Amino acid sequence: MSSEIILKVSDLNLELSKEGIFVPLLENINFEIRKGEVLALVGESGCGKSVCSSAITKLLPKEFFRYASGEILFNGEDLLKVDQETLRKIRGRKISYVFQDPFSSLNPLSKIKNQMTEGFLNQGLGTYKEAIEKAEYLLGAVGITDIKLRLDCYPHQLSGGILQRVGIGMSLMCDPELLIADEPTSALDVTVQAQLLDLLLKLKEKMNLSVLFISHDFGLVSHIADRICVLYAGRISELGTVDQVLDTPNHPYTKDLLDSLPSHFSQTGVFRPIEGKLPSPGNYPKGCHYSDRCDSVFSHCKTTKPILKNTDITGHLSACFLNDKKELAG
Ligand SMILES: Nc1ncnc2c1ncn2[C@@H]1O[C@H](COP(=O)(O)OP(=O)(O)O)[C@@H](O)[C@H]1O
Ligand SMILES: [Mg+2]
Repeated sequence: MSSEIILKVSDLNLELSKEGIFVPLLENINFEIRKGEVLALVGESGCGKSVCSSAITKLLPKEFFRYASGEILFNGEDLLKVDQETLRKIRGRKISYVFQDPFSSLNPLSKIKNQMTEGFLNQGLGTYKEAIEKAEYLLGAVGITDIKLRLDCYPHQLSGGILQRVGIGMSLMCDPELLIADEPTSALDVTVQAQLLDLLLKLKEKMNLSVLFISHDFGLVSHIADRICVLYAGRISELGTVDQVLDTPNHPYTKDLLDSLPSHFSQTGVFRPIEGKLPSPGNYPKGCHYSDRCDSVFSHCKTTKPILKNTDITGHLSACFLNDKKELAG
């Protein structure tokens, strides 16, 4: 991994239209991804992971979503300011997506081979023969057999698992610099997931790819990511290396999340689901978004929003007033 930053999201605030009124969905989102780095975005279902990933290249429908402020620098260029044509080129070529549901991202009326080669040909990256060769190579790389046969199929003729692999293969056709993978293996069983992740890691090394890996599965994340960004109700609660976040979690939400998993990530050794409900956009608490569910809550948490800041000199970030409780009490 190099220290060169490929994506830098700064102070992103995004709103959602609810019954005609725009309410905050993402608040003060700040993170960066370096070249060759895998950053995992984790958090429970509904916390804003998919919206955040789609927001990066403005894939969200304008009638429901509004950028209130922020900057999304990709190789130094603000994606919120570039024209549609530039954005379209970046989307097809330099930033590619793999979505959770492969059916939604594939065209039901077009054969796999046409869909796989389309972007490559549109971007003028080579001949049709070269495109097919690359598609065959990538489908092989993601573990698909009978490749020629599959290439000739329509999406409905393939299983969800195969389509998810096709999605990953397809996302790499144009040698992207940044891959945004939104729960890309969730339809697959655990062993296949592990195989695919290993493969993704190998391809990442080979292509010096940067990855934003979205997941709610800490097992997968600990396997693939360099750093972890924990999202809760539209705000980042904690951000650090995999070791920092999993071994020495700072934020009560991260701790509770780890304890809520029936796995070895638990700090207390007790499997304890988090009580209460994730607040939805429009219903976020006035102070810390986790204040309604947090066991360590104190008065300040209910009135003020904590900002993400260093907990130590190693760059482990957390947004929790417990870290300055002494100062606040004094
Ligand atoms: N197209 C949409 N229209 C209205 N609300 C949406 C839309 N997409 C997402 N949301 C809302 O935004 C919030 C975050 O959703 P999402 O990013 O999909 O969560 P996650 O991916 O973390 O499960 C949720 O409250 C969800 O209901
Ligand atoms: Mg999602």
